[in-house]
Amino acid sequence: MTIHSLSPDILSAFEGAVGRSGLTTDAAGMAKYLGDWAGDYRGGALAVLRPGSAAEVQALMRLCSELGLGVIPQGGNTGLVSGAIDTNCAGLVVVSLERLNAIRRIDPDNFTLQADAGCVLQTMKDASEAEDCLFPLALGAQGSCQIGGNAATNAGGVNVLRYGMARDLILGLEVVLADGELWNGFSGLRKNNSGYDLKQLFIGSEGTLGIITGVEVKLFPKPAQVETAYLGLSSFEAAMTLFNRARRACSDLISAFEIIGAECVELARLIEPGMTAPVTAPAQALIELSSGPTIDLNGILAGFLADAMEEGLVTNAVLATSGAQAKSFWAIREKLVEGQAKRGYHVRTDLSVRISDIPALIERARRFVAIEHPGWIALAYGHAGDGNIHFNVLPPLSLGATEARARGIAVTAGLYDIAVDLGGSISAEHGIGRSRRREFWDALSPTHRRMVTALKTALDPKGLVNPGCLLPSTETFS
Ligand code: FAD
Ligand code: LAC
Ligand code: ZN
Repeated sequence: MTIHSLSPDILSAFEGAVGRSGLTTDAAGMAKYLGDWAGDYRGGALAVLRPGSAAEVQALMRLCSELGLGVIPQGGNTGLVSGAIDTNCAGLVVVSLERLNAIRRIDPDNFTLQADAGCVLQTMKDASEAEDCLFPLALGAQGSCQIGGNAATNAGGVNVLRYGMARDLILGLEVVLADGELWNGFSGLRKNNSGYDLKQLFIGSEGTLGIITGVEVKLFPKPAQVETAYLGLSSFEAAMTLFNRARRACSDLISAFEIIGAECVELARLIEPGMTAPVTAPAQALIELSSGPTIDLNGILAGFLADAMEEGLVTNAVLATSGAQAKSFWAIREKLVEGQAKRGYHVRTDLSVRISDIPALIERARRFVAIEHPGWIALAYGHAGDGNIHFNVLPPLSLGATEARARGIAVTAGLYDIAVDLGGSISAEHGIGRSRRREFWDALSPTHRRMVTALKTALDPKGLVNPGCLLPSTETFS
């Protein structure tokens, strides 16, 4: 049964749990917690709770458990699949972790950092750098997303091919369970084969198994050298051949390999009108190498690129001569994402296939759009080194927003079919949330569904943490 409002008694109990400043119920105060970054989703909530400590999270979860009230954990609200927005307005409370934002401990000798879940990713990266260390999780939203949200979504980003996803970087978690009990899963150990690795259940669970209140991550030595080049190629096939060779020729020192279709640069210009790509070519790529001080990193990349150009694999290459120039290359990659959001509604995907199938994925997806949806503009960019492409499609400007959204359903379905047909995934890194729940659930085998349901039931028997996200709920999923 959906609860439509909270009684004064319940509100004062919440106030007792999180303090007066931690409770918001007015529409204006709640607005920013009820819409997503891209402006795609709007939801509802009975209240927004902003606990200031793990103990306050426990107190509010105990109350919710007694009342049978569902909660949505929310981090920086940069997720792209409506995991932190209750689009069904099912009578839930939002629990924002934003006040739980301290770095608890940084240990450069153990190469670890422990922080509150609401700590903004950029803050963690800055604190690591101050200790001559690197926390390598890197994504466009790093100035706003929180480490708890990164853990809950198993975030990826641009350095996955060297350092792995959030799952590979997290050593321990602290979690408040659905009944308010606190689980302290910190050990600081890199090796610990003692039964089930419970933290892995919560990583990527999108807030459906408990509220993460603390995260311990691995750090790495800060690279002494970083070399970045912006490349022009005749095709994505050439780009992937180049990537394969580069891994071997550059001693696996590549920390990022991103591809950008020429058509994407126009979108970056919507944010920075003067921006130009350093090369003109149908397929473009950003390659970054990083290492310690004792090798000739510049020589390795320059030599490799010279050979690739001589062979005709690369048509153009600009090797950055300063940090500022490298930053300007990356700005194209970052601004194109902002440009898409600025242009308005668009089909957004997060497809992954085997690395060797990237050219086929892009080729088939482009053909599908051209034939089935003429006038729509196909964009291909993303983390090609990990087999992950954001193949997004812009509706013609002449189409009204409502019609574009309606037609976008068929565009999305067609792209998902292509990825699945290639043996790929419809969610490489963004997650399932509420927007991909049906496709996710429909594709699971009965055995897989039984295990997922058993886990959810064991940890959240009343279905109170993020109901409607990831899994079917009786009210919102037929
Ligand atoms: P939110 O959006 O607040 O929440 C996301 C999910 O996690 C929700 O289901 C929520 O309930 C749950 N959650 C949040 N905090 C907690 C917690 N403490 N405990 C339990 N559950 C919680 N993602 C990538 O993987 N790679 C990218 O390259 C990338 N680039 C992006 C670029 C831009 C410009 C934007 C806007 C987004 C990008 N994202 C990317 C998506 C997004 O930034 C990530 O999914 C990020 O990890 C979400 O973190 P958040 O704190 O904003 O979480
Ligand atoms: C990116 C986000 C959208 O890679 O995942 O830019
Ligand atoms: Zn991405």
